[in-house]
Amino acid sequence: MRYAVRCWECGREVEDPFLDACPACQGALTVDMDLSSLEGTSLRDLRSRPLGVWRYGHFLPVQSEPVTLQEGGTPLYDCGRLADELGVREVRVKFEGANPTGSFKDRGMTVGVTRALELGCRVVGCASTGNTSASLAAYAAKAGLGCVVVLPSGKVALGKLAQAMFFGAKVVTVDGNFDDALRVVRELAHAGDLYMLNSVNPFRPEGQKTLAFEVLDQLDLRLPDRIIYPVGNAANIWAAYKALKEWQSLGWIDELPMLTGVQAGGSAPLVMAFNRGSDNFVPVEGPETIATAIRIGNPASGRKALRAVYDTGGCMTAVSDREIIDAQLLLGRREGIGAEPASAAAVAGLRRLLDEGKVSRRERVVCVCTGHVLKDPDAVMAQCGRPIATEATAEAVRKAISQGPVPSL
Ligand code: F0G
Repeated sequence: MRYAVRCWECGREVEDPFLDACPACQGALTVDMDLSSLEGTSLRDLRSRPLGVWRYGHFLPVQSEPVTLQEGGTPLYDCGRLADELGVREVRVKFEGANPTGSFKDRGMTVGVTRALELGCRVVGCASTGNTSASLAAYAAKAGLGCVVVLPSGKVALGKLAQAMFFGAKVVTVDGNFDDALRVVRELAHAGDLYMLNSVNPFRPEGQKTLAFEVLDQLDLRLPDRIIYPVGNAANIWAAYKALKEWQSLGWIDELPMLTGVQAGGSAPLVMAFNRGSDNFVPVEGPETIATAIRIGNPASGRKALRAVYDTGGCMTAVSDREIIDAQLLLGRREGIGAEPASAAAVAGLRRLLDEGKVSRRERVVCVCTGHVLKDPDAVMAQCGRPIATEATAEAVRKAISQGPVPSL
């Protein structure tokens, strides 16, 4: 598949594969795919391959054999009990926790690490709030590459940290937040210490496009009214927009679902920009939220994400930590879906937008739940308390379970 890497801001073609921004205007980069060879084809032509990232290989800018752990192909659950609880016509959950390392990041990493091999790189690296590092560590292991991950000290959920260490990455924590870690990794990449696989590398969002492709594929191109994403560094919602535009350009879909982004209240620079109707955002110093995955004050793809929201007639909203935790429990206890806090922000945002009358109760909505509940066991234990300890007799256990209410919401 032919493509060109361009500056998203000024359109200039960028040939140096190791740049992470436009040399002329410092704008973010994007991959411009030439889809002309797909004209006259249809989605049905792809379906001989199993549902997953590589079903959509024609839309991905790598030529060689992919480094794959069979990512994608995640369930799209029809959540009737959740819809009843929220009071909306239809809610589906795209459960990205079912990916090989438990988050949607695997979709970008299969492409990004394949690209690293094509460029002959030996060491890959990233800054991360946790999931990116877990995913990169696994794909680097699979590809036989060295891996360096830089994390904000003390603010990465235990499961994610455990994964990065387990897969053999060099894990460094820095005194600062994600935005500081990203600045450091960019500097290391510029100096040639590593090939950076954060989402400012435009090959990452290319892989993440497949999340939106799958949703449309699983719905047989019967478009939902709205797709809701939790937003942190803001590449994933942009990737969805790019995916939708590509299928629209081929005539596979006519309209675009309203892309809607949810940030955590303490880390919501894009929501503030949206509320002002602006394309530009002001970074938040010292971002905070229990949803550590999206604890980001200066989203690298922020302007792209705003474009995705404005162009599709979507919206953005911020939710509190309490709303996030309530939504996480609701997903677990009404639908059996185990999502980490950041993922649950999508559902918390839907509830808020319905309550505020900004989303119609007649809509058909897809919420993207980006990561698995086991990523952050501490967040769960803080809500659910400890198990009841007792003697190993039926009588003692009967007594224990008869005390207090049966756990529910
Ligand atoms: N949900 C989860 C579970 C995430 O890990 C992230 C981002 C997001 C949502 C937001 O996606 O950044 O594309 O807007 N995690 C990154 C990381 C920052 O380092 O793992 P985004």
